[in-house]
Amino acid sequence: MNLTTNYMGLQLQNPIVASPSPLSQTVDQIQALADSGVGAVVLHSLFEEQINHEENRKASILENYAESFLESLSYFPQTPLDSPGPLPYLRTLELICSKIDTPIIASLNGSTLGSWVAYAKNMQDAGASGIELNLYQPISDLEMAGTDIEQLHFDIFRSVKKEVSIPVAVKLSPMYTSLSNVIKRFDSLGVDALVLFNRYLYPDIDLNMLEVLPTINLSDKREVRLPLAVIALVRNQIKAHIAATTGVESVDEIIKYLLVGANTVMTTSAILRNGLGYVTKLLDDLSAWLQSRGCNNLDDIRGTLSYPLGSRHDYYRFGYVETLQKANQNPYDWND
Ligand SMILES: Cc1cc2nc3c(=O)[nH]c(=O)nc-3n(C[C@H](O)[C@H](O)[C@H](O)COP(=O)(O)O)c2cc1C
Repeated sequence: MNLTTNYMGLQLQNPIVASPSPLSQTVDQIQALADSGVGAVVLHSLFEEQINHEENRKASILENYAESFLESLSYFPQTPLDSPGPLPYLRTLELICSKIDTPIIASLNGSTLGSWVAYAKNMQDAGASGIELNLYQPISDLEMAGTDIEQLHFDIFRSVKKEVSIPVAVKLSPMYTSLSNVIKRFDSLGVDALVLFNRYLYPDIDLNMLEVLPTINLSDKREVRLPLAVIALVRNQIKAHIAATTGVESVDEIIKYLLVGANTVMTTSAILRNGLGYVTKLLDDLSAWLQSRGCNNLDDIRGTLSYPLGSRHDYYRFGYVETLQKANQNPYDWND
């Protein structure tokens, strides 16, 4: 079965992409991910805070030793390999890109406008095939208006895009005041792909210790519904490619995402839960499903369940009203 996929100009063997996770920390791990059969690997993120920390460290060394023996940056103490600074990330990226053909997408993660965005260029120089910009920003500033946040995110994207010639994707949260408008505006700014959506991590509370607990759970298949709905809505109204992310448990979620028009489908939880061998099963199941439907390639199904251009804007309202009216009738089957 021909599963080849174009994702923001990159030719992938198939549409399943490993999204950023702890499985992409080392060269060996990334090699293993690529060997598992995924079409591309997005590395774990390099965080704005890591970059700023390193930049501040260099600035303070320069300040303290400017007039002594230090003549160039090469005299700086070496960043140890396990340091949280950006150099080990770039070294790993460079090594893996020189070793394998699978496209490697580097991930930059930040929420303010700053010099850290210049690291996009270092990622390109290290051999990345593309950049995924993760705009993770839980809103804690009560004075910040929705329009300010949007403008900030557009400005961050523009700064990154200006640095590089490789494709740039943005990984968005679903929590914008007018999500589809934000998607449309990123598209107008020339984003190469939209990664929909980031998963917010909220802490829990330990009732014994009366403490706030940082928590990270793997996703489940019900979480596909929001990205599915939004991708179906925007697919035919934007040029940018779309990577669906969140909630893949089995091939069913992958097929659903392709049906609403995703170019690629990303997965982390399924691989963490089932191991790297699971990628082969997902690919085999996808080929078998396509074959059973008489399809020759992904274009036979991609986007067939997205909203045609010119669909009525109140479609979602109708769906909501109809669903609630049905649910308000007794008896309703609550088995889901
Ligand atoms: C342990 C763990 C680490 C993650 N690290 C990152 C990261 O560094 N950068 C990022 O953009 N997303 C990160 N993610 C989010 C995943 O890339 C993905 O978007 C999310 O888990 C939803 O996909 P899934 O439902 O297939 O797990 C991480 C997720 C997990 C579970």
